[in-house]
Amino acid sequence: MHQIKTICICGAGTMGSGIAMVSAQAGFNTILFDLNGTVLEKAQASIETGWNQLLAKGKINSDDLAQFQSLIKFTDKLADCQADLIIEAIIEKLVAKTDLFRELEQINPLNTILASNTSSISINTIAQGLEHPSRFVGMHFFNPAPVMKLVELVQGQDTNEKVITLLQAICQKMGKTAVVCKDAPGFIVNRVARHYYLEAMWLLAQAKENGEEINPASIDKILTASGFKMGPFQLMDLIGMDINYGVSQIVYDALGQPERLKPSPIQAQKLAEGNLGKKSGKGFYEYK
Ligand SMILES: NC(=O)c1ccc[n+]([C@@H]2O[C@H](COP(=O)([O-])OP(=O)(O)OC[C@H]3O[C@@H](n4cnc5c(N)ncnc54)[C@H](O)[C@@H]3O)[C@@H](O)[C@H]2O)c1
Repeated sequence: MHQIKTICICGAGTMGSGIAMVSAQAGFNTILFDLNGTVLEKAQASIETGWNQLLAKGKINSDDLAQFQSLIKFTDKLADCQADLIIEAIIEKLVAKTDLFRELEQINPLNTILASNTSSISINTIAQGLEHPSRFVGMHFFNPAPVMKLVELVQGQDTNEKVITLLQAICQKMGKTAVVCKDAPGFIVNRVARHYYLEAMWLLAQAKENGEEINPASIDKILTASGFKMGPFQLMDLIGMDINYGVSQIVYDALGQPERLKPSPIQAQKLAEGNLGKKSGKGFYEYK
């Protein structure tokens, strides 16, 4: 298997911008691609802010900053997406992902590794749309990518073992802890963590029915006080209602629609209203 020098990240939203930051900090030539120029500008600004915060805290020096800046390129042209490893972090829609991978296969050599950061779509299902599925793998970072240590490497039925070994080394270079998992609904974390969100929303619904005074902030306060870094409602706002609700729906359907995993109408309503969380300015909380 070849050496990884250049990493291209497709999608410069919440996850893509964070992964690009991690990639440049680990010393890889990094290309960040998005179709939307405004998103790209926002991503560039947030990456710069992140690095300047590290500089201000003395975690990096000005040489590091200059080095990171020199390693990252921003583009809205798909033709620029030529790399040794491509990490797709675009919208959570199967067709959008397979269309993109098909185009990426046309402009990259056979030894380019193709990875998806999908939270919930089956890796085997995406692989069906690819010409060479042996080089395809799930590479699931957590939000915020620069902070969260875990990466789930999702091995599809055709994923070459060497791809997994190579990505374990790449994760290590990025300062991440890789865990290899099978292509199961919600992989590991998104399945186990489902109840954190769902139960909190059922509690809210039940309290409303009983006329009790409970709101998202009060539930978040209790859970953060009990040791969780973020409460479930804060976390859903950070993740994005579209992504989080989509994962709930996929895990629920894939496991035979058990009552305990039923997606919440509260979240469905937020989604329908366009209140996606931090990225839209409003979710369970408001953001200025
Ligand atoms: N948000 C999370 O907490 C989280 C965590 C882990 C994984 N993920 C996964 O990461 C992926 C991205 O999620 P996100 O939260 O960053 O989404 P986001 O909505 O913040 O960003 C998606 C970006 O993809 C861009 N895009 C759409 N189609 C494109 C295309 N064909 N080519 C290039 N860019 C395109 C959009 O312009 C947008 O900027 C999803 O698959 C999601 O399931 C999300």
